[in-house]
Amino acid sequence: MEHLTDIESISKEDITEIIKLAKEFKQGRRKSDVENKTLALMFYENSTRTRCSFEIAGLKLGMNIINFDAPHSSLSKGESLKDTIENLYFLGVNAVVIRHSLSGIINNVLKQVKYPIKFINGGDGTHAHPSQALLDYYTMLEKIGTVENKKIVIVGDVAHSRVAKSNIMLLNKFGADIHLCAPTYLQFQNKEAFNVKYHNNKEEAIEGANVVMLLRVQNERHEKEGYPDSGEYKRLYETDSELLKKYAAKDVILMHPGPANRNIEVSSELLDNRVGKTILEQAQNGVYVRMAILNMLEGKGKEV
Ligand code: CP
Repeated sequence: MEHLTDIESISKEDITEIIKLAKEFKQGRRKSDVENKTLALMFYENSTRTRCSFEIAGLKLGMNIINFDAPHSSLSKGESLKDTIENLYFLGVNAVVIRHSLSGIINNVLKQVKYPIKFINGGDGTHAHPSQALLDYYTMLEKIGTVENKKIVIVGDVAHSRVAKSNIMLLNKFGADIHLCAPTYLQFQNKEAFNVKYHNNKEEAIEGANVVMLLRVQNERHEKEGYPDSGEYKRLYETDSELLKKYAAKDVILMHPGPANRNIEVSSELLDNRVGKTILEQAQNGVYVRMAILNMLEGKGKEV
């Protein structure tokens, strides 16, 4: 694996290797191959989980971490992202995690950069969030063993969700039965491009689900403000304990990439109960999966 820019660019074997390595890091059975390497975190959009877990992952691996301060960098003087990254490489940076609001910018800049610095996509626009899909897959495997033929329902603003797209790409590689539930105006325009089943009605979508993944309404990526109306969205798409108990499989797994909006897409009582705890476990697994990603970019890891 040269870089991690999206799920399409990595093989099923690489994904399986990342999962295996993450499990070994979680169990304390692997040591770092990237000690003293330098990682720069370049976040042009806000983040809690992705930024902090890459930083913690890098620190656990003995890496040096640079929290690149985008608003105070020379980008404000007109320097391009390509030139910035090439300069960072010559300063001694080995890998960058980039989050940006522009879809596809990471693949574009990667093509322009002439030096062997590693690229990791920390989420770009509505395009991709591959490390999130990997940690989601890790969490599903930990909880239900396999995703093959399992009913996985993604509920919410799929049209603007890089998390949904990366999850669909990944879950399709492993034979999951993927369902999307959203109002028509928050579904994909090019429906045929994705091997999934579409629903408008949450009860119908969640019927027999093994995994329910909730998404936030991503207002910052909407062209029109105040659309959808949060009251209407809550009435039609909020998930609570009662809904899961009535329609989903008995041992359903609840997931959410975060940040969650309480009492809009998920009820507060569900978020705080035993079922909702998986969402915190997802975030925790993000540290080990990101350790595996950082280690995979430089080597395969050695037994302790
Ligand atoms: N899931 C996720 O990307 O969360 P952050 O925006 O907090 O990084």
